[in-house]
Amino acid sequence: MTEPANMEDRKKVIFSAIQPSGTITLGNYLGALKNWINLQDEFDCIYALADLHTITVRQDPASFRRNTLEAYALLLACGIDPKKSIFFVQSHVPTHAQMAWILDCYTQFGELQRMTQFKDKSAKHPENVNAGLFTYPPLMAADILLYQADLVPVGIDQKQHLELTRTIAERFNGIYGQTFTVPDAYIPKQGAKIMSLQDPTKKMSKSDENTNAYIAMLDKPEDIMRKFKRAVTDSEACVRYAEGKDGVNNLMSIYSCVTGKTYEQIENEFAGKGYGEFKAAVGEAVVEHLRPIRERFDDYMKNRDYLEQCWTEGAEKAYSISIRTLRKAMKKIGFLPMKR
Ligand code: TYM
Repeated sequence: MTEPANMEDRKKVIFSAIQPSGTITLGNYLGALKNWINLQDEFDCIYALADLHTITVRQDPASFRRNTLEAYALLLACGIDPKKSIFFVQSHVPTHAQMAWILDCYTQFGELQRMTQFKDKSAKHPENVNAGLFTYPPLMAADILLYQADLVPVGIDQKQHLELTRTIAERFNGIYGQTFTVPDAYIPKQGAKIMSLQDPTKKMSKSDENTNAYIAMLDKPEDIMRKFKRAVTDSEACVRYAEGKDGVNNLMSIYSCVTGKTYEQIENEFAGKGYGEFKAAVGEAVVEHLRPIRERFDDYMKNRDYLEQCWTEGAEKAYSISIRTLRKAMKKIGFLPMKR
């Protein structure tokens, strides 16, 4: 990640993050993580566990620590390669919180009030509408802008936050001259919004109270099969992608993501067959796709020293890049510099 002499030689920088809040779902994987893995060969990729974001909702300390450890191991098991990419834990790199404060001061109250995630989460946790929940997007902007990221692979639900990140970057650049790269969202054609298996008008979410609504990446094969068999569909009993067939569309999209088949191929494969057969096929394809990930996860979890070494090195590399941007921004604002 050293700065090339000629900026045209610079590979595009990718940044993304995921919250280690509980189980990571098939929605997270198909909407974001799968892209993270695929981008590693072509770009300079930087990925993080956004644990600072996670405490906007109250966490039990032991479960939080466990979830973060497991999320780190799971992402390695999914294919993040610490030799190719930088992979760290957000709270290990203090520049994020520092830059977030700065960006708070370049973000308008009204802009944060309009964020749908803020509105949803404050409705869901009325007893804890804390300031962190409100200023969540500038912390996310800090994550991205610190690395001068060009592209941010995310699912559709993060699009609004990305747009605000661009607004903040453009505003800062407008006041002080070019400081931050203005990033683009990188949203997959397939899988950008995987829906709940129980209510396919809602997105699949790890915080859903009904565990049948989502597939956790570490679910046992029999649980995955059961959840797909119970997935809500419709009464037409015909596997085709069409408006109003949210449940079937969602299953087709999942099946397409894990098998690489087009909708047309899927429609032909299941022509004249019932939903029972289709759901079982989707379940089996998902089980087979996740099996090697689960096996690698078990191996990583047995090797805590290796995990610790990876996240320590990741944090060191992330710090050395992000401190440059932080200093640059602070200098432009007019903070008194320290001799280093
Ligand atoms: P999080 O942890 O909610 O989700 C991680 C990624 O998974 C995607 N995703 C989905 N994609 C398709 N279908 C679904 N049902 C689905 N559910 C979640 C999300 O779009 C996301 O890409 N604020 C972020 C974390 C974050 C971040 C960042 C992301 C912190 N800093 C900087 C990008 C850049 C979040 O809560 O994602």
